[in-house]
This record gives sequence, C-alpha cells and structure tokens, in this order.
Amino acid sequence: MAEPTSRRRWGRLVALGITLAVLVPLGYLWATSLVPGSYNPADMGYADYGGGPAGGHDHHHGGMSVADLTGPAAGTPDVAVTLTARKQKFQLASGETVDGYTVNGTSPGPLIRARVGDLVQVTFVNESVSDGATLHWHGIDVPNAEDGVAGVTQDAVPVGGKHVYRFKAEQAGTYWYHSHQVSSDEVKGGLFGPIVIAPATPGEVVAAIHTYDGKRTINGRTGSQRVELPAGTTARIRVINTDNAILRVGLLGAPYKVVAVDGREVHGPTPLTAAYPLAAGARVDLEAVVPAGGMRLVAGTAAVSLGIGPVDPPSGELPGETVDLLTYGTPAPLGFDPAHADRNFEYRIGRRPGFLDGKPGLWWTINGHKFPDVPMYMVAEGDIVRMTISNTSGQAHPMHLHGHHAVVLSRNGVAATGSPWWVDTVEVGNKQTYEIAFVADNPGLWMDHCHNLPHASEGLMTHLMYEGITTPYRVGGDSHNKPE
Ligand code: C2O
Ligand code: CU
Repeated sequence: MAEPTSRRRWGRLVALGITLAVLVPLGYLWATSLVPGSYNPADMGYADYGGGPAGGHDHHHGGMSVADLTGPAAGTPDVAVTLTARKQKFQLASGETVDGYTVNGTSPGPLIRARVGDLVQVTFVNESVSDGATLHWHGIDVPNAEDGVAGVTQDAVPVGGKHVYRFKAEQAGTYWYHSHQVSSDEVKGGLFGPIVIAPATPGEVVAAIHTYDGKRTINGRTGSQRVELPAGTTARIRVINTDNAILRVGLLGAPYKVVAVDGREVHGPTPLTAAYPLAAGARVDLEAVVPAGGMRLVAGTAAVSLGIGPVDPPSGELPGETVDLLTYGTPAPLGFDPAHADRNFEYRIGRRPGFLDGKPGLWWTINGHKFPDVPMYMVAEGDIVRMTISNTSGQAHPMHLHGHHAVVLSRNGVAATGSPWWVDTVEVGNKQTYEIAFVADNPGLWMDHCHNLPHASEGLMTHLMYEGITTPYRVGGDSHNKPE
C-alpha cells in the first residue's frame, strides 16, 4: 500500500528536523571545544582573583615578561653540567632494551649534585628528540624563566638546539628534572634524572623509581639489587617517584623516620614501620640505622627492591598500614599566617562527557570548566594564598604546583596537627578535599597540574599567574610547544 507522497515528504522533514536538533548543538559543542592551533598561555581561560583585587598591583613589575625572570646571568657556576637528550633504543642498567629517551646516554640521566648556595648551570642539548624537549626542575622553586615549560617559560629545544638553565640552589633536598615538552610521552620514555641539593653523605642512597614498558625499576634496574653499607651507618634513602601513579614505599628490617618530603625537612619525625604513600612526582627521604641483618627498600608491589647493608636483607612485604603526614611529627612555625589569606581559591576537579579539542570523551573539569576554559589563578607578589583542592572525578590526582611549596592545612576538614607538611605535589584521592596555603613569593606564570601526566594532557592543567606578567611564548605554533 503506497503512502501518499505528501505524508512521506512530511515524514522525511520530521526526521531531518530531529537529526538537526541533535547535530546542531553537538556541532556547536564540538566547535567550541576546539583549542586554537596556537595560543598564549597567559590569555588562557578566565581570571579567578580568589576574592582579592583584580589588577591595580602592577606598578612593581608591570608588563614584566617571563623571559626576563631569569636566574643570575653573571657569575661562575659552582656546578656546571651538560645534559644531552636523545631518542633512542637503550639498555636498562639491568640489561633489558627500551625504546625511549636518554640523558647522556642513560635513563635515568646522571645525578646532579649541588650544595645550598651553589650557582647551578645546566646546558641542555637536544640531539635527537624529534618532538623537541626541555628540562623542568621538579620541586626546585627556580625563577620563572628557568622553569623549563615549553610554550610557557621557553620554546621547546628542537633537534640540534640547546638551552642554558641557571639558578641558585636555595633549599636542600631531593628533586628531579624531566622534560616538560610532550611530557606524558617523554618522561614515561625516560627523559628525566635526579638532582640532590645537599652534600653526599656515606649513608646516602638515591632511589629513582620508574616503570619502563611495564617494567618497574629502581635507578634503571629491575629486580633486586644491593648497596653495601656497614651496619651502624645512618642511611638516608632519597626516594623519587617518577611514574604516573602513587606507590607505597618503605623499609623492611629497621624502623625508619620520614625525614623529608618534597625537599622540605619534617619537624620532629619519629620511627615507624608503616608504608609511605609516595605520590607521582613526589619525593620522600627515609632515614634508618643499618641493622646487622641489613634492610630493604621496597617500592610498590612489583618485585623491585634495594638491599641495604652488609648481609642479605630480610624479605617480605610492606605492612598494610600507611603513614599519615597529617599527624606525623610535631608542629613548627610556618613563617606566615594562612588565617590572613589575600586569596582563597577553589580547584574543584570533576569529570564529564563532552568534546575536548573536537575529540569526544570523558574529560576532566576544573571548577566545572573544561580545558582550555579553566580558571587562571591570579595573585600579586606577597599574597598569602589558600587553595581548596577537591576531587569528585572518580580517580586520584597528584596535584603539582610549579615554583612554590605549599603547606597542607587540612584534609576532608580535619586540620593538620603534625609537622608542617610542605608539598610541591599532593595526592588528592577521589572524594578528598585538601586545603593548602602558600606565599606568592616567586613572580611568573606557573603551571598547576596533575602529575599523572596523561591526565594533564587530557586537560587537568591550569596556571597560577602573577598580575602584570606576560609571556612571549605560545603553546602550539611554529615552535610546536606542547607542555603536556
Ligand atoms: Cu614534574 Cu609540571 O611537572
Ligand atoms: Cu590526574
């Protein structure tokens, strides 16, 4: 039975209308999600003044460019090293072949050692990293132009190029360096290394933990390895988590103290045996006296451990309990009063379906906004800043603020009562809320992102910006800057 023509035509029109009703808004969402091919990171998103004044504070450094915020230009460096990055197949110290990135032919790259007060100069050479590369000094609060973020504080160093970093080592501690160009790929592939600001001591062990192609390593070795230290030595184990996920670390065979976190000494640490939850990007220094029976550093659940001492150390697993820095150690003055904050920011991490740069998916949000329409946290030099980081995204996020150390004030509304808990990277679990505070004492344009680096590349990334600061660099464009 044939339908009348007019009826059929009407039906087609209705179908077309429905299709358009779906496609037009989708197309709009798609189009508005596109990230421009090149943009100035200082113009990204929308200004969030955190209840403080909007502008008007510019007269001290009005129009100051990031490029001018360098370390000391003059002076002979106390530590001068050249680090050369390559994209290559290489062998781990334990023999396995990895296709990734090296620094001076190895991964991890060489340990840089400086002392407090030293002028450090690193000449970075990109021999063959086709995407370009940079070096960021994770946890060292360097002047902004030395921060090594492609498209924000410099251009990515192309193959055949070089870049000189100069900064004064001001705070003793355990840090690391890594590329901040296409970092989700380059760091994972090995473009990183340790840097320690402190004189070497007989009991010092630096342990950079990294997973290459699914193989977990300590200092580039899979499996068990040994460090010969006489019984009775006070060992200080500087543990660095260079991976994208949190890791339980700890010592077996001797009680230990957590003596430093993220390059800041813990006040009044007491001996314990519980495991330490080491966030991605974070560092912890563990101290213990080597017992006659030796001891073992255990990193995560994979079979990777470091036997420390004169004999075969005890085997076994880390205990189920976890150290809580919220109550560990004893209080000490902070040097500022977080109760009198000039800015109060919220950093609410969520997740929702939609488009990001035209790609459909489930994307991270900051205060309900998707990258790049995220808040730009605006401060003036000298401000006391409070930030409440909350997370309802369904996953944990190790949040890292560049250029500053912040102190943890509370977690889920429970005030910190132990040692001042200074962090540059803090693990914010799903359904957790951390309140942190810091002094805005390092002018510039600073990244504030998740250190599960693929998350940063999926938009969990924004900036802290000092009023009056500009940057000549651009993300994208001719220099192909892509910090995440
Ligand atoms: Cu360790 Cu923005 O990085
Ligand atoms: Cu994350």
